[in-house]
Amino acid sequence: MVLLDIRNLTIEIETPQGLVKAVDKFNLRLNAGEVRGLVGESGSGKSLVAETIVGIAKDTWHVTADRMMFDNIDLLSLSSTERRRIMGNDIAMVFQEPSSCLDPAQKIGAQLQEGMPNRPASGKGWQHWQWRRKQAIELLHRVGIREPKRIMNAYPFELSEGVCQKVMIAMAIANQPKLLIADEPTNAMEASNHAQILRLLERVNTLSDTTILLISNDLTTFAKLTDSLTVMYCGQAVESGKREQVLTQPRHPYTAALLHMMPDLDGSLPHKSRLNILPGAIPPLQSLPIGCRLGPRCPNAQRKCIITPPLAIYKGQRYYCHFPLNMPEEKIK
Ligand SMILES: Nc1ncnc2c1ncn2[C@@H]1O[C@H](COP(=O)(O)OP(=O)(O)OP(=O)(O)O)[C@@H](O)[C@H]1O
Ligand code: SF4
Ligand SMILES: [Mg+2]
Repeated sequence: MVLLDIRNLTIEIETPQGLVKAVDKFNLRLNAGEVRGLVGESGSGKSLVAETIVGIAKDTWHVTADRMMFDNIDLLSLSSTERRRIMGNDIAMVFQEPSSCLDPAQKIGAQLQEGMPNRPASGKGWQHWQWRRKQAIELLHRVGIREPKRIMNAYPFELSEGVCQKVMIAMAIANQPKLLIADEPTNAMEASNHAQILRLLERVNTLSDTTILLISNDLTTFAKLTDSLTVMYCGQAVESGKREQVLTQPRHPYTAALLHMMPDLDGSLPHKSRLNILPGAIPPLQSLPIGCRLGPRCPNAQRKCIITPPLAIYKGQRYYCHFPLNMPEEKIK
């Protein structure tokens, strides 16, 4: 069953230089229970897509789509109240900048308990409050927080970004949502915590049947958790397919370049520089190249690439490239 179906999502942003197209005709179809990785360099539009799905687009964004259905509900036609209800119950998001998404004036325990489901508890009043508090402490424990009771009484500014990120994950899984969007869910944490969070997400996916959209600019971190991958470049999905297909037979040169990146073994490179794998940088939205957007950086670019490549599908793998890689000889024109 298809849980999320997005077709031709376009996000234009008002800037002093006029409207810029930050996301262009983006498609995403998630089956219930699937774990999809959304990968791409910094600035490729991953967070814009996620924020649009959860309905927190800013007033300066012009969002259009041919289709944006979640569980047979048209997200584009919802009122803000209806949208909030869905967000509270069915869709949860772990934001990329955790501390800025927590209320600085409220203790962690109160924030966590506020978003928790209203399950029948053993009694009313303080008993119910106690039940919620116990659930909140258990959740903090599940995400790997060592002193959950102390953290319950802390304000966000007293905690590290990594702990705030764990708190956000606890909040996101509290309601057992149908869809969990995790935007770089471990980027503020020490590397030693990554495996634990991955195991937790895996359990959330299998035990609660939660569909997960896992966003990262590092293909190696999450790949083994995912069933399928979508690769984004410069506001467009350039390739998507089953994880094994994309990892072993990438069709798009950008995907191939992501796969060739060297792991940052000694940790000396800053987080965002690890994908510096092609010559040049992602072009500014105000001056995108004509035709294929990877053109100026692509090692395989040819004259034809000044024409925008159309969608091509080979064995279920979808890609946009005139000269795909790893194709059988009879398919090469
Ligand atoms: N509020 C905004 N106003 C103007 N431009 C924006 C805004 N938010 C994002 N952008 C631009 O849209 C593009 C995509 O941004 P986005 O944050 O979605 O990238 P990303 O893929 O999530 O990158 P990262 O891996 O760094 O998180 C970038 O060029 C960014 O500068
Ligand atoms: S269409 Fe051309 S420039 Fe674009 S990715 Fe393919 S080969 Fe490279
Ligand atoms: Mg982002």
